Amino acid sequence: GCNEVRIGVVGLGYVGLVTAAVLADRGHDVVGVDVDGRKVEALKVGRVPIFEPGLDDLLSENEERLHFSTDYSSLRDAELAFVAVSTPTVDGKIKLDYVLSAARSLSTVLGRDAVVAIKSTVVPGTARRVRSVADREVVSNPEFLKEGSAIHDTLRPDRVVIGSFSASAGDLVESLWSFTGAPVLRLTPEEAELVKYASNSFLALKVSFINEIADVCERLPGCDVNRVARAIGLDRRISPHFLNAGLGWGGSCFPKDTRAFLAFAAQLGEEPKTVRAAVEGNEERPRRAVRTLERLAGPLRGRKVCVLGLAFKPNTDDTRESVAMKVVELLLREGARVVAYDPKARIDLSTSSKEECVREAEAVVIATEWDEFRGIEGLLKGKYVLDGRRVLDPALMDPRFFRAVGLGVE
Ligand code: UDX
Repeated sequence: GCNEVRIGVVGLGYVGLVTAAVLADRGHDVVGVDVDGRKVEALKVGRVPIFEPGLDDLLSENEERLHFSTDYSSLRDAELAFVAVSTPTVDGKIKLDYVLSAARSLSTVLGRDAVVAIKSTVVPGTARRVRSVADREVVSNPEFLKEGSAIHDTLRPDRVVIGSFSASAGDLVESLWSFTGAPVLRLTPEEAELVKYASNSFLALKVSFINEIADVCERLPGCDVNRVARAIGLDRRISPHFLNAGLGWGGSCFPKDTRAFLAFAAQLGEEPKTVRAAVEGNEERPRRAVRTLERLAGPLRGRKVCVLGLAFKPNTDDTRESVAMKVVELLLREGARVVAYDPKARIDLSTSSKEECVREAEAVVIATEWDEFRGIEGLLKGKYVLDGRRVLDPALMDPRFFRAVGLGVE
């Protein structure tokens, strides 16, 4: 066809790899570059370094339009290069070194008219810096995909956000995503960059808020935060999504982005108090859960405790900033003998099945809501159980041995 664009993608993590696979599937020629030689070698022979449903298939179906390299010069013919390198927070501040060094490298290989589009999550003002480093048009095109449904989210996003200095560079990026049918917001680069932090902060805030309501529910007999949340969420101004109370939020985005946003705002002389409160409230969740278990089961020293779930959420093997891992740490600190099981994530204390994990354990914490933990009420009989993710049916549990986040006890 005539609408195909030669695309480069720098950084082959979640965002870069999914972007590359989806755009190749749309018929574009894509070259992916990463500094990690092992990752590139793996991708060349069809091995996918991350677990993401559907990604293996999408990559192998589009093999002929996808090339991987550690060498920036393979991007020489690209008309558009996405930057999707990581932007970690170090000492609470965003580290932009990888973005800026990618920009520098791109400036040496790309043609005069090639455009750089930033997909990495970056603080407002970064596109402007990248424009001066890369000495060409730069577009901010933030990514809102969720791990576990990354391909679906890229094919069917709620909206496409494009922040550009020049209309034509913005048009080029917009044309790539027009197939999604999603509303397109054309913004300034700073606005587009801010949207990403505001979205993630608001979502984190929503979860921290419902967790506070859950705490109150626990003190009211027969009160269930899930029923309360459902009723709150039917107000269209609030929406029912992201109101699942539990052990709190983790993962590679929310903790990093809320911290980076707070530090960025502080530099501007602002202090977003609601975001600060959302972060502080979330930090309390694992400790609160362990205390609840201790109130139920007594001191945990020397006793065998099983943690079901390690990933920061289901359908991923990602344990970055996982609340489940923090629960494991706290239990170990209390002197408990901890065993853990997760369908995808493994640590030293892991068993190979939930049955083995639960066997001989006196207490069980459900820390991630994997489907395979539903319907296991029978397996947990006779044990102290804390359901941190509301996967069990309270009606099937003995109230003397059972607590759930956001569930009041009679
Ligand atoms: C998030 C954003 O949703 C996405 O738009 C952005 O691009 C990246 O960050 P992700 O980190 O993949 O995506 O996970 P998400 O599904 O949003 O969950 C984040 C955390 O919040 C998880 O730990 C999850 O368990 C927790 N959560 C989410 C809740 O505790 N309750 C909820 O109702 C929703």
